[in-house]
Amino acid sequence: MDTIHIRGRHRLNGTIPISGAKNAALPLMIASLLTDETLTLTNIPRLTDVRTLAKLLGVLGATVERSESANHAKLEGDTIALTTPEVVSTLAPYEIVSQIRATFWVLGPLLARCGTAKVSLPGGCAIGARPVDLYLKGLQKLGAAIDLEEGYVLASAPNGLKGAIIRSPIVSVGATHTLLMAATLAEGETVLENAAREPEITDLANCLVAMGAKITGIGTSTLRIQGVDKLHGATHRVVADRIEAGTYAVAAAMTGGDVFLDGVDPESFEAVLSVLRAAGANVEARLGGIRITRNGDKLQATNVVTQVFPGFPTDLQAQFMALMTIADGESEITETIFENRFMHVQELARFGANISLHGDKALVHGVERLTGAPVMASDLRASAALVIAALAAEGETTINRVYHLDRGFDRMEEKLSACGAEIWRVKA
Ligand code: EPZ
Repeated sequence: MDTIHIRGRHRLNGTIPISGAKNAALPLMIASLLTDETLTLTNIPRLTDVRTLAKLLGVLGATVERSESANHAKLEGDTIALTTPEVVSTLAPYEIVSQIRATFWVLGPLLARCGTAKVSLPGGCAIGARPVDLYLKGLQKLGAAIDLEEGYVLASAPNGLKGAIIRSPIVSVGATHTLLMAATLAEGETVLENAAREPEITDLANCLVAMGAKITGIGTSTLRIQGVDKLHGATHRVVADRIEAGTYAVAAAMTGGDVFLDGVDPESFEAVLSVLRAAGANVEARLGGIRITRNGDKLQATNVVTQVFPGFPTDLQAQFMALMTIADGESEITETIFENRFMHVQELARFGANISLHGDKALVHGVERLTGAPVMASDLRASAALVIAALAAEGETTINRVYHLDRGFDRMEEKLSACGAEIWRVKA
């Protein structure tokens, strides 16, 4: 297995091009199943999750043509053209679905287009129980019959899905993606109340509209979908990755650097920027991106509570905790979205961080300095927290199990080394 090595205490200075968002690219690729025409997606990040999903779509009948951008200097993403003239299989097997949770979302389009689907219950990062009851109840409201058998969801709607009002008791990103896609081809109107409104949902909804779907309320927590008989092909650019941008913003603040995050919309993570300001970073929205700097002053302990969008994202909780390990004072970090998303705590302790856990809260007592150590990545965003800690730590850090990072960060070593970080990969 590859390892990543970092020799810390270099300030990050320069420009980091922000890639297309993994969490938008995946549902957008899945949306291609809704039509027999070609969906062309640009700004697709180079990630193992994208490759795994492409494999699944291939099994279901899609041809996936990938072309690399010529603009290597900006580390532009790829273009992929997905065409599924016919769905040749409605079975999404365990071997693939257990690798990435988002592959489970094919359930919506398969059911809407073919009236039947057999999809393995999902896997994904081990950050909590992560049930799928909201997906299944929502699809039942749309008229589907659902059975669970030997680890698979069997869904059928031989006469097609019928529009309905679906009010979710809690906000779920994945259930919103799945029900939104399913409703585009249902008969009549569907209303999704208490829907997630993360920018990645907005990106999917905009792409579906470009494909001929009728959706109003985009960007709000009530989505109204008027079903249509058929969707057509379209070309769509994947929105910039606010979580990647937030990760590098934290890295810049951690190392006391000066970094321009190229291509990200500040509005997509205002909550993060205000927390970073409170912690002592300077944040300037500029044309086409955000500049993050920190003068030599010490970081200030700052409390954070994770929330659904537009609140502080759970996907940046680990990275922010890394930042707080060297802040002045004690910060309280409350995780409200996933019940088991603190696996980075014991790894951060290996750098000398002082963190105690109390249910859904982590208390971080800032220490003077971190020291490099051998550590183990446990999930995608936790791995990013280890990179951030290593960038500020004295001495060398070795990060094991970096396949977690490769799932969600496009060319991270290249981006960080271009800004002065001493980071390199040792291939297994
Ligand atoms: C998406 O996961 C993201 N994944 C996650 O990013 C992200 O952390 C999460 O949304 C929250 O923002 C992708 O977009 C591919 P949820 P998802 O359904 O859809 C509970 C990353 O690192 N719930 O919004 O799985 C659930 O257990 C990943 O990129 C139910 O109870 O998240 C959780 O507590 C990790 N029943 C809460 O809702 C359900 O049927 C929110 O989960 C569905 C969810």
